[in-house]
Amino acid sequence: MSRRILLKGARIVDPAAGRDEVGDVLVQDGTIGAGDRAAGATVLDCDGLVLAPGLVDLHTHLRQPGREDEETVETGCRAAAVGGFTAVSPMANTDPVADNAAVIHEVRDLGERAGLCDVFPVGAITRGLEGAEMAELGEMVEAGVRIFSDDGRSVPEARVLRNALTYARAFEGVIVAEHCEDASLVEGGQMHEGFHSYSLGLAGRPREAEEIVVARDLAVARLTGGRLHLCHLSSAGSVEMVRRAKAEGLRVTAEVTPHHLSFTDEDLRSYDTNFKVNPPLRAAEDRDALHAGLADGTIDVVATDHAPHAVEEKEAEFDQAPPGTIGLETALAAVLTHLVAPGRIRLARAVEALSTAPARILGAADHGGPIEPGRPANLVAFDPEAEWVVEAPFASKSRNSAFLGRTLRGRVVHTLYRGEPVVADGKAQR
Ligand code: NCD
Ligand code: ZN
Repeated sequence: MSRRILLKGARIVDPAAGRDEVGDVLVQDGTIGAGDRAAGATVLDCDGLVLAPGLVDLHTHLRQPGREDEETVETGCRAAAVGGFTAVSPMANTDPVADNAAVIHEVRDLGERAGLCDVFPVGAITRGLEGAEMAELGEMVEAGVRIFSDDGRSVPEARVLRNALTYARAFEGVIVAEHCEDASLVEGGQMHEGFHSYSLGLAGRPREAEEIVVARDLAVARLTGGRLHLCHLSSAGSVEMVRRAKAEGLRVTAEVTPHHLSFTDEDLRSYDTNFKVNPPLRAAEDRDALHAGLADGTIDVVATDHAPHAVEEKEAEFDQAPPGTIGLETALAAVLTHLVAPGRIRLARAVEALSTAPARILGAADHGGPIEPGRPANLVAFDPEAEWVVEAPFASKSRNSAFLGRTLRGRVVHTLYRGEPVVADGKAQR
């Protein structure tokens, strides 16, 4: 019999059960146990901590296979656990691309061997992410894939997206996730196109590049009735289009990243390449619209877009540096600092957007709560008030964080994955 753990005196925030109250939770044999069996259990004092269902990331880059110098499935899963995540969805833009069942199996097996969180690999929509021929969606569904995405780029032709959304309809719970940027409009672009790009002399990526693809994709979703998920929204116009599409009844969901919620294009004035991300950080009014969209549910999910890159590549000239910031270890704190602390959203909404909603979209039944007897014990306990400065090294193999040097409020203390404390007192246990 495995160790029994009593999480004592936590504020239990469990949106799936509509619960927010102080109480104890017993963990036994990987699942939540009944409270009256607590005698003799190891007690973890959770006074002052929030206990929530483990976080679920719909958008993670783990770089294996291909760029194990930047991240491996194991180091990425450790970073996830340190950030309070119990499930991640690694994107398909690896080398080789995850466009067939063999790569999907490889990534999932690596995840199982690491044993730090659940790994739900995303499959490519098109072969080699080239946008032309459909990948082997059927065999990847057989292998357990629930999300298909060519993330890193948009599906270039509406016809191909139509086929993918139509095909996905045939399978229960399968979704198509789009990175929305029109390639022809962002080519060579380094940052959001606007006042700051003009004054810095950097080529721009206009918000219209995203909005054109969002508009097209919503139209294709209407045409097919397929389930569309829009990755990392960045512009106010996109939020408004999604709001209207939902009112119309389209089957669309959307995500926003912690960095788009936290920063603007003004931060690029530092020329710090850790702020170079796709889609780019935009103007303050866009960030404010993302806040409002997350608050009113137009945006369902916060997803990290954890994108590790090698130090020497990020230290290159600005226009040579690859886009992306790591995010697994700072996501919860960024949301607590920039949305919950200023009163823009309630704590329960933050937990919903980081756990309950992504678990539902992914169909990950073992995650997202409710925290009830018999349920798998995938849990996070965090101190919502603790302040800390983001510093390297990270559990991630990479250190390209846009949050480096920032003071954030809210720190993960314990992460339990299938009942095992993979993070205890803020430290990874293996
Ligand atoms: C991602 C990456 O590095 O893989 N980079 C990024 O800036 N977001 C690709 C992507 O999601 O666009
Ligand atoms: Zn992307």
